[in-house]
Amino acid sequence: MRLVCVLSAVCVCVSLLVCVPDVTAQTPTTAPSTYTECTDGYEWDAESQHCKDINECETIADACQGEMKCFNHYGGYLCLPRSASVITAPDPVSQSEGEPGAEGPMEEQQQQQTLPVVGTNEAFNPCPVGYQAQGENCIDVDECELGIHECQPSQQCVNMVGTYSCQCPEGYSKIGLECVDIDECRYRYCQHRCVNLPGSFSCECEAGFQVAPNNRSCVDVNECEMGAPCEQRCYNTYGTFLCRCEQGYDLGPEGYSCQDIDECSYSSYLCQYHCANEPGSFSCECPEGYEILGSRLCQDINECETGAHQCGEGQMCVNVHGSYRCLDNRCLEPYVQVSENRCVCPSTKPECRDLPFSIVQRYMSITSERTVPSDIFQIQATSVYPGALNTFRIRTGDEQGEFYIRQINNISAMLVLGQAVTGPREFVLDLEMVSVNPILNYQTSSSLRLYIYVGPYAF
Ligand SMILES: *[C@@H]1O[C@H](CO)[C@@H](O)[C@H](O)[C@H]1NC(C)=O
Ligand SMILES: *[C@@H]1O[C@H](CO)[C@@H](O)[C@H](O)[C@H]1NC(C)=O
Repeated sequence: MRLVCVLSAVCVCVSLLVCVPDVTAQTPTTAPSTYTECTDGYEWDAESQHCKDINECETIADACQGEMKCFNHYGGYLCLPRSASVITAPDPVSQSEGEPGAEGPMEEQQQQQTLPVVGTNEAFNPCPVGYQAQGENCIDVDECELGIHECQPSQQCVNMVGTYSCQCPEGYSKIGLECVDIDECRYRYCQHRCVNLPGSFSCECEAGFQVAPNNRSCVDVNECEMGAPCEQRCYNTYGTFLCRCEQGYDLGPEGYSCQDIDECSYSSYLCQYHCANEPGSFSCECPEGYEILGSRLCQDINECETGAHQCGEGQMCVNVHGSYRCLDNRCLEPYVQVSENRCVCPSTKPECRDLPFSIVQRYMSITSERTVPSDIFQIQATSVYPGALNTFRIRTGDEQGEFYIRQINNISAMLVLGQAVTGPREFVLDLEMVSVNPILNYQTSSSLRLYIYVGPYAF
């Protein structure tokens, strides 16, 4: 049972918990015919056989003092300001049964609020529930700050004008009285991986991807720009990256490093003389006296033509494989020089009787390790006498028998290298052509002095 009193200025809702039994009239529960005692504020009415309320405002002189007005009430009375009027409020229980959510806190609040006992003026609140007096005004009570709310620990108390509400934080939903974390991951917000967090969620991406600015999609990471460990070339691909190496390098087994390929180890035929491995490539080198021809071959330098020789004046420069010779092109006694390469033994000199009349000097250079037999030098008679028979032979210089003569016809023969020769070596061969004219009974011979220089290499 409640009373609501209405003041003229502001509406004041007052719960009277003090002097109110919860019945309009008391009914004796046992033996009604003999029951004559009623609780305070009631008297037995024999006519109606009920306990009847006493109107204290009439029976008690000066029930209220001063400016206060007396209001009779079941089982008691109230002293209220003169301007107050009293109406009966409906039962609070039926009111709160309707909608527990929104009005719940208010209801709780109202039921909790304790009013000062009538008659004692201390802390009397003339303001509505949820307000408190401040001077002449009623101001909102911050129930959240004062801790006089009924929100669950999982709920957030939000103060409102005249009341408060219990709300769930963002990312939580209300189930029963509690706020429960929403599992956002159930809604497939994330492109790759979703991690539910209390009140929120976050998206994660697979390796090689990063979360896009929208926080949900995943975009490829360009690892090449982010310091991928490729030693040489880096190629970004969707979700990962690839390392590659320049030509002449092999990718290491771990996929990052580049290791120089030793091309020289592949084949001994890469270079004619010497292969020099270099980072990422190789080069061919030639011995002294040679220059590179193309990329792998070595070619003899003709020092006599390039002017790199050191031969003195009057000396003849002869180029040989890998080097050169400086020769004194003089004829030895009793020979006299008649042209650049020709010495003659004049028949006027008695010493010349048993010597070849003419000696021609020739110089040639061959490489080491020629395949044999190998034609080396062709000899040809310079003056042909009709009917003469010419024979050719090696007079001196072939003590080891490396060479032989193959006659081609009457007037020419070929010097043949018959055994493999390894340089560097020098031969000086005296080749003789004997001309016989049996009809005229005439015999003459001429010699060729052949200097053969065998180079140190097969090129
Ligand atoms: C993504 O998340 C960051 C950090 O949590 C935040 O600052 C930013 O506003 C979010 N961006 C979007 C589009 O939600
Ligand atoms: C070569 O010798 C033959 C005989 O063997 C002879 O008939 C011929 O005339 C000679 N030729 C020359 C050019 O001497």
